[in-house]
Amino acid sequence: MLKTLEWTPAGVKFIDQTKLPLEEVYVTAKSHEEVADVIVTMVVRGAPAIGVAAAYGVALGAEKSTARTIEEFQPEFAKICARLAGTRPTAVNLFWAIDRMKKLFATLAAEKVSMPTARESLLAEAHAMYEEDIAACKSMGAFGGARMPAEGGVLTHCNAGALATCGYGTALGVIRSAVEQGKKIKVYADETRPFLQGARLTAWELMHDGIDTTVLCDNMAASLMRAGKIQAVVVGADRIAANGDFANKIGTYNVAILAKEHGIPFYVAAPWSTIDMETPNGEVIPIEERPAVEVTHHGGKQLTPHGVGIVNPAFDVTPAKYVTAIFTERGTLEAPYGEALKRMAGK
Ligand code: MRU
Repeated sequence: MLKTLEWTPAGVKFIDQTKLPLEEVYVTAKSHEEVADVIVTMVVRGAPAIGVAAAYGVALGAEKSTARTIEEFQPEFAKICARLAGTRPTAVNLFWAIDRMKKLFATLAAEKVSMPTARESLLAEAHAMYEEDIAACKSMGAFGGARMPAEGGVLTHCNAGALATCGYGTALGVIRSAVEQGKKIKVYADETRPFLQGARLTAWELMHDGIDTTVLCDNMAASLMRAGKIQAVVVGADRIAANGDFANKIGTYNVAILAKEHGIPFYVAAPWSTIDMETPNGEVIPIEERPAVEVTHHGGKQLTPHGVGIVNPAFDVTPAKYVTAIFTERGTLEAPYGEALKRMAGK
């Protein structure tokens, strides 16, 4: 299984997702600031991968600190967490992971453990999140795989694969599981303008696994659906609100509307760390605005006239009414999502 990110003695090692698919190169972040930078520049991206990267960033910050006691480290720890939390606002997994590190730190501080013990415990927590993420992907993959058609086209948007997680993937985990179950799936990967996660990353990792994959431009989905080529849609999520509305890569909302119009089931796959019971609905999910250059330029080449207005929201919100089911590691949720999420939160 390819490694999206990995703890090494030199720091946190990432496959550079800005270089794929043409170059398979790795970068090692040697400080928590460098981890924050790789998150902002999208060397690593995808909600679960961002969360675990941040947890390792916190562990790395502790590793590099010269503080002699946990009391002395406390203000530095707060700054490390704030720096990592300030990287990308939409994926709730980032805040979930940092909060988990903060909770552990509070216990360690109350116990006045030594700095070597604190470093060891923080790293062990990040490792646990890494392993739990892979297990969650496998579990939701099995739930979702069972709902995939025995044969047919499955459309996905962005990259919710191994590259967006610690391995296996959420939406692509569902597809991998369906294929493992012997289903004959033909994947249609939206190219996903402007960062091209579908064209570059989904296509690359599915081809790596020998899964039948076809890339389409984002504006081709409607006609493929009308032509009967798509039997299901499965996407990931960056944040699922308490009523089932969810944020995902810009363009997901378009696909959801198209699926409904064509009577095609539309599924979401996400780990429980993506569910934000504190956010009542999609309208209050913070949406990241990315730099205009991602739209104006491609591969260093300018595409648009100088001075033209540009919008670049990285995510959109799809209302729960478009969602056929949500796959999580705890099971499959169906409408009404508010009640279903509350029930499952108690598990
Ligand atoms: O901007 P990105 O590439 O981080 O956006 C990624 C997505 O929107 C994914 O679909 C989402 O994070 C789920 S990844 C399992």
